[in-house]
Amino acid sequence: MDCFQYKNGVLHAEDVNLVDIAQQYGTPCYVYSRTAIEQQWHLFNNALANYPHLICYAVKANSSLAILNVLAQLGAGFDIVSGGELERVLQAGGQANKIVFSGVGKTVAEIRRALEVGIFCFNVESEAELLRINEIAGQIGKRAPISLRVNPDVDAQTHPYISTGMKQNKFGIDITLAPQVYAMAAQLPHIDITGVDCHIGSQLTTITPFIDAAQRVMQLVEGLKQQGITLKHIDFGGGLGVQYNAETPPSVADYAQALQSVVGNSPYQLVFEPGRVIVANAGVLVTKVEYLKQTPDKHFAIIDAAMNDLIRPALYSAWQAVSPIAPHQQGTLQTYDIVGPICETGDFLAKDRELILQAGDLLAIRSAGAYGFAMSSNYNTRPRVAEIMVYGRESRIIRQREMLADLWALESVWAY
Ligand code: LLP
Repeated sequence: MDCFQYKNGVLHAEDVNLVDIAQQYGTPCYVYSRTAIEQQWHLFNNALANYPHLICYAVKANSSLAILNVLAQLGAGFDIVSGGELERVLQAGGQANKIVFSGVGKTVAEIRRALEVGIFCFNVESEAELLRINEIAGQIGKRAPISLRVNPDVDAQTHPYISTGMKQNKFGIDITLAPQVYAMAAQLPHIDITGVDCHIGSQLTTITPFIDAAQRVMQLVEGLKQQGITLKHIDFGGGLGVQYNAETPPSVADYAQALQSVVGNSPYQLVFEPGRVIVANAGVLVTKVEYLKQTPDKHFAIIDAAMNDLIRPALYSAWQAVSPIAPHQQGTLQTYDIVGPICETGDFLAKDRELILQAGDLLAIRSAGAYGFAMSSNYNTRPRVAEIMVYGRESRIIRQREMLADLWALESVWAY
């Protein structure tokens, strides 16, 4: 069920009217449907029901404490990429022993803390990192569970900025070199080899790259067995795409089924790191039209949200749907660029959209639950916006709108 639907001519989040949300909490604000998050979680979890598995939600997609808490209550694990994300997960009630730690640049302090709290696994991205983890584990008298993140050299056929599994990317260890690095890991006294990991990119809308990568990983796993190294889990990363516009990504069920078939009946625990597919379509950015502006060339709708609030259109030319919250029944359709108040030509949220608009209208930028607020900034000294969660008929503020004083709270002038 789509949790954002029109009822009596007004867009709702579950049973909550978004005009009321805008009045109560102000604009711009992110609005998340708790039911939508729960639905996506169950879809994923049910698709893997017949296999031992651990779903580690990729915290970077949306790291709001309230969202992490919803997922923790459902039994989720978490994929983290920083010490900050680790503390967020713990703060939100997540379990340390269900955390995988990804990322190419883990610091000494981050590794030590992750060992102390006892995470499920480090996804190791280089030999140098492996040696560092071994050394720190030795210093504090622990053994570190590790998998190697391998780079299978597969083209994910997605935007180049979010493609990670090709030879020229900074991620992972070349799959052809992995047997050597596993052999080295096996000699290290404070390392426990527990698995293998691979993540080839984000917003994948076809299944073939996933299958290609999985087949290469399984070949590696078989080879390792001959080498006397037996793994407990296989981590297929995240990356399953969602529908923003006319994309037709594989269903969660088809995706899970395809990967299970590649693994066959082998006794491995399957680990996944989905981010976008859990939260993207569970959130919208609610914004108000400040002005309509017509130039000889174009019609602009200038809104109160901007690229600092949602950077995906500016950064990746990403397309996100724009829905009027209370559409006019009459009026003239125009083709608008939906732009923010920031002083950059790249400050657009959408281009060439046919809409009937008036100043003061409310718009919902759809599919904004993933990589929306999480990538927002204070550029142009704009306070980060409020975040609201809806559940049935109720709504709660889960992050206050920043106040101006928050923006310079850590700064000082140098009176000289
Ligand atoms: N695991 C690892 C190691 C990752 O690097 C990522 C995403 C994920 C899991 C989750 O991928 P997902 O299921 O969400 O596709 N800011 C970009 C997306 C960057 C993705 C980075 N890594 C965007 O807005 O499209």
